[in-house]
Amino acid sequence: MTNRLRYPLLAVSLLILFAAIWAGMVRLGWRWPVLLPALPLSHGPLMVSGFLGTLIGLERAVALGVRWAYLGPLATALGGILLIFSLGGSLGALLIVFGSFIMLLIFAFIVRRHLASYTITMALGALVWLIGNLLWLSGWPIYRVVLWWAGFLILTIAGERLELGRLLSLSRVVMNAFIFIIAVFLAALLISLPLPDAGTRLAGLAMFALAIWLLRYDIARRTIRKPGLPRYTAICLLLGYFWLAVAGILILGFGQMTAGLRYDAYLHAIFLGFVFSMLFAHAPIIFPAVLGSQVVYNPFFYVFLITLQVSLIGRILADLTGLWQLRLWTGLLNGIALTLFIGTMMIMVVRGLKVEGRSSA
Ligand code: HEM
Repeated sequence: MTNRLRYPLLAVSLLILFAAIWAGMVRLGWRWPVLLPALPLSHGPLMVSGFLGTLIGLERAVALGVRWAYLGPLATALGGILLIFSLGGSLGALLIVFGSFIMLLIFAFIVRRHLASYTITMALGALVWLIGNLLWLSGWPIYRVVLWWAGFLILTIAGERLELGRLLSLSRVVMNAFIFIIAVFLAALLISLPLPDAGTRLAGLAMFALAIWLLRYDIARRTIRKPGLPRYTAICLLLGYFWLAVAGILILGFGQMTAGLRYDAYLHAIFLGFVFSMLFAHAPIIFPAVLGSQVVYNPFFYVFLITLQVSLIGRILADLTGLWQLRLWTGLLNGIALTLFIGTMMIMVVRGLKVEGRSSA
């Protein structure tokens, strides 16, 4: 039963991604048809919770192998669909809150089974997502909760990288530095509730410190020497850390923003630069793992990666200098890079499934 849920859930999460990209284009200024007037406003929640929340929840549910864990991605996927069509009032947000609650339960379960700094970091990521979603459900504007959503993704990724970093057997001092940075980041999120500007800037500082820590201690620095998929993954990871550092500096410098070019610059340094570089790194493993097929890799992935990186540099520069046309075109290229990468990945995974099916028949 749960096996059959994987395919529709992954398909819905991709549908949400494409709707969110469309919404992003309209927000950027492209006069594309908008059949659903509220769609552009849902761009942020669709990207963070509808797409990434569902994908991460699905990956966790498959790894855990218990039925109830599928309730999380099921709820966030349904919530995303309701947001796209502006149906059900706040039911969409409520379902997303429920989905993030299930994610927290999954991590509580994992932490009980295996108490370690990396499981705790990922559990904190789920907690931060839930809190951000609760604030959003209660009517807080997105610019006040977006740091919590970013925190969900940053802590989830940092925890995953820490898990792999165990191979390097990090010293106590290095681990304490990691814990200290995460504690400062969490404190910054709490401070941002009464003091948005101070909390935001402190979060930026913690992001910068985390980026430096990851650049210094991630095993990517070693695996970059291996050819093929390990090198491709390592390059994506190191680029992601670079973007996290850029985001940290921008956030530290700008403080809390409510909308506009600076807001666009720092949010997308995190979400496109850091988070999507990580997705580009892990997708060849995550997508096949969710659908139960072999890891896929093709050197052509570099073309999508380079397109994303170059267009993002252009977009951030355009944001910082106010070059409107450059922002429009580089933003469009961001969307094209994501669409082509995910599309190619899915075609490869589905082809792999067919080949495996035939050879096992
Ligand atoms: C495909 C490329 C993308 C484009 C063209 C795009 C475009 C935009 C634009 C124009 C804004 C409004 C900024 C402003 O207030 O001036 C925005 C906001 C935002 N974006 Fe994106 N974006 C993209 C990708 C992403 C991704 C991948 C994520 C998350 C994973 C994301 C999350 C957000 C969030 C959370 C906001 C704030 C929304 C709000 O305050 O209502 N975006 N985006």
